[in-house]
Amino acid sequence: MTDRSEDLFSLAGKTALVTGGAKGIGALITRTLVDAGCNVIVAARSAAAGTDMEATLAEVPGRCRFVASDLSTTAGVQALAANLSETLPALDILVNNAGTFDAAPLEATSAERWDAVLTLNLRAPFFLIQALLPLLTARATAAEPARIVNIGSIGGLMPQSNGGAYAYGCSKAAIHQLTRMLASDLKPRHVNVNAIAPGYFPSDMTNGFFAAVPGLRDKMLESIPAHRFGSAEDIGGFTVFLCSRAGAYLTGSITALDGGLLTAAQ
Ligand SMILES: NC(=O)c1ccc[n+]([C@@H]2O[C@H](COP(=O)([O-])OP(=O)(O)OC[C@H]3O[C@@H](n4cnc5c(N)ncnc54)[C@H](OP(=O)(O)O)[C@@H]3O)[C@@H](O)[C@H]2O)c1
Repeated sequence: MTDRSEDLFSLAGKTALVTGGAKGIGALITRTLVDAGCNVIVAARSAAAGTDMEATLAEVPGRCRFVASDLSTTAGVQALAANLSETLPALDILVNNAGTFDAAPLEATSAERWDAVLTLNLRAPFFLIQALLPLLTARATAAEPARIVNIGSIGGLMPQSNGGAYAYGCSKAAIHQLTRMLASDLKPRHVNVNAIAPGYFPSDMTNGFFAAVPGLRDKMLESIPAHRFGSAEDIGGFTVFLCSRAGAYLTGSITALDGGLLTAAQ
């Protein structure tokens, strides 16, 4: 690789926060960002997964630090923002990845689960962005804007409820819309805001679907034109693009990263 192409995708010297960054899709993103030279703070509930991630990444170019956080409460969001404000001069990258899934028949959907899904998938990212704006704008410039990457879902782009994922699909459609609104409002403050709408990636969430519905795993593999689930290279690589010099001109985008599943379904 030439120096010029390395510069295009390098994240050396950058600092990122990845919520839910020690498991599933978040872990794939954390590992790739650290490999690209980024210092990553991982915020999630499980201390075991968080410290394991810190240990696994001790020898690579960037660094990983775990901060135990429950983002389902306002106090948890504020405590994380306060921790970062006390320990960092600036934040270059925020990946809003932590999320939860729920699906039930229309008549069986409860208000409690509805609120839990909307709270973690939509309210937490909004108020985290609000609380972290001073850090995100601290060294952002027109040439090197700060980056927010929201993890949406193809569930927020498809017309189907996918087995009754009403709250989930609405939370993801809303985070896509929030991405567009914030991209517009934050452009003058040199913060780019983009969303990735993943298709199927290996995680506890997707393992849960496949365990609940016999045959679904094989059916999905057949329906995805790429005939495979997404990988670290797919989601990590696209996140590195969005957060590096290569992606500096892009804001307000929502990209389905799904091996062609959404296009094939239309
Ligand atoms: N996997 C897919 O195919 C797929 C497809 C489309 C979209 N997505 C989206 O990708 C994101 C990651 O999902 P995943 O598939 O990787 O699922 P996952 O394995 O269930 O991961 C969920 C992550 O969120 C964290 N989390 C959950 N509740 C939290 C809370 N209250 N406070 C802080 N962190 C919390 C979890 O960490 P702790 O348990 O340690 O808190 C975990 O790291 C989600 O936004 C999901 O909607 C995934």
